[in-house]
Amino acid sequence: MRTLIHHIGLLAGILPPGKLRLTGSEMAVMQTLPDAWLLATDGLITDFGPMSTMPTCTDCHTVHAHGAILMPCFCDPHTHLVYAGSREQEFVDKIRGLSYAEIARRGGGILNSADLLHQLSEEELYRQAMRRVEEIKSKGTGCVEIKSGYGLNTADELKMLRVVRRIRETAGIRIAATFLGAHAVAREYQGRQGEYVDRVVREMIPEVGKQRLAEFIDVFCDEGFFTPTETDRILRAGARYGLRPKIHAEELAPSGGVRVAVAHHALSADHLEHMADESIALLQGSDTMPTLLPGTSFFLNMPYAPARKLIDAGLGIALASDYNPGSTPSGDMKFIVSLACIKMRLLPQEALNAATINAAYSMGASCTHGSITRGKRACLQLLDAPSLDYLPYAYTSNLVKQMFL
Ligand code: NIG
Ligand code: FE
Repeated sequence: MRTLIHHIGLLAGILPPGKLRLTGSEMAVMQTLPDAWLLATDGLITDFGPMSTMPTCTDCHTVHAHGAILMPCFCDPHTHLVYAGSREQEFVDKIRGLSYAEIARRGGGILNSADLLHQLSEEELYRQAMRRVEEIKSKGTGCVEIKSGYGLNTADELKMLRVVRRIRETAGIRIAATFLGAHAVAREYQGRQGEYVDRVVREMIPEVGKQRLAEFIDVFCDEGFFTPTETDRILRAGARYGLRPKIHAEELAPSGGVRVAVAHHALSADHLEHMADESIALLQGSDTMPTLLPGTSFFLNMPYAPARKLIDAGLGIALASDYNPGSTPSGDMKFIVSLACIKMRLLPQEALNAATINAAYSMGASCTHGSITRGKRACLQLLDAPSLDYLPYAYTSNLVKQMFL
């Protein structure tokens, strides 16, 4: 099937083939074409150009864009959107003064979500997650990474990853699956962290690997959670099954997560709210994408990751939502782009590049997603906006006229 979208006011996010990420000053520019058309064949971008060159196509399904902006869908390379129920009680506890780390130390947080998940059927878990997936699809996301990490035992981690697989088969968008058994120490292993890590390494990873339920592996490498030494051991075990690392690093403290990420050629090092200055040098020259989650800083009232410093040091950055029940119960990538502009001082085009091409890189999808490039998936959003700057400016408006997934 062929689809011709015409009278596009601005076609944005054009990149040449082979450009898989943007770094430093490159991030400030989104290549655009005003007054354009775009042709997609069987879900792939075949061609595009200025209206004066539009081909005639009698058997095409045509879409009149009426001057709207057409750009790549958002990619969201870090979410925990498969979870059971919600944790609004902790939201109230935080307003009353408890921190995220204190709630976790008292046995709440991730362990509360694990308790809820143990009781929930696979079917109901899928149903709850799909509601979230449908919501983010309507807000511009066409490509999303989803982690396990609320099972914390082999059976329930596998249950989560089967739900992710089912979402991949039914949601009509690109999904990447990440195994995060080392998200917290399971309740029944409290005080026996080493034994829990043994279980992750000896039992969970081999099962996930054999059943091919994930492509990536993650560890919550941070103060109060897993150490760099434990992380190193877990990532080595994952590598035996071809699981590439994408890890939680330096969210709560400069705890060495970036060093271990870079040493293992992690695709991304995520969070970085409390990143040590020396981590910038480690990231330079690596293939690890710093992936920032301003929604978490907003929701937890924490410092924001030093996005400007990273870009000014010549690095690329990606943005993600972190959609999860504890630290960011939202997957609204357009709002994430606004936060990056308002709170991290990114220019709108830097933030949009971070949420498209660099976000796609951060989940191993930039060969097929994240830009307007001939041969890539026609995973596109049509937006009712007068300019690109308007997107983060209108920070709560849903401007999506139509999604092409
Ligand atoms: O990325 N930091 C670890 N994991 C999540 C929070 C998970 C939760 O609280 O349920 C995060 O913020
Ligand atoms: Fe996270």
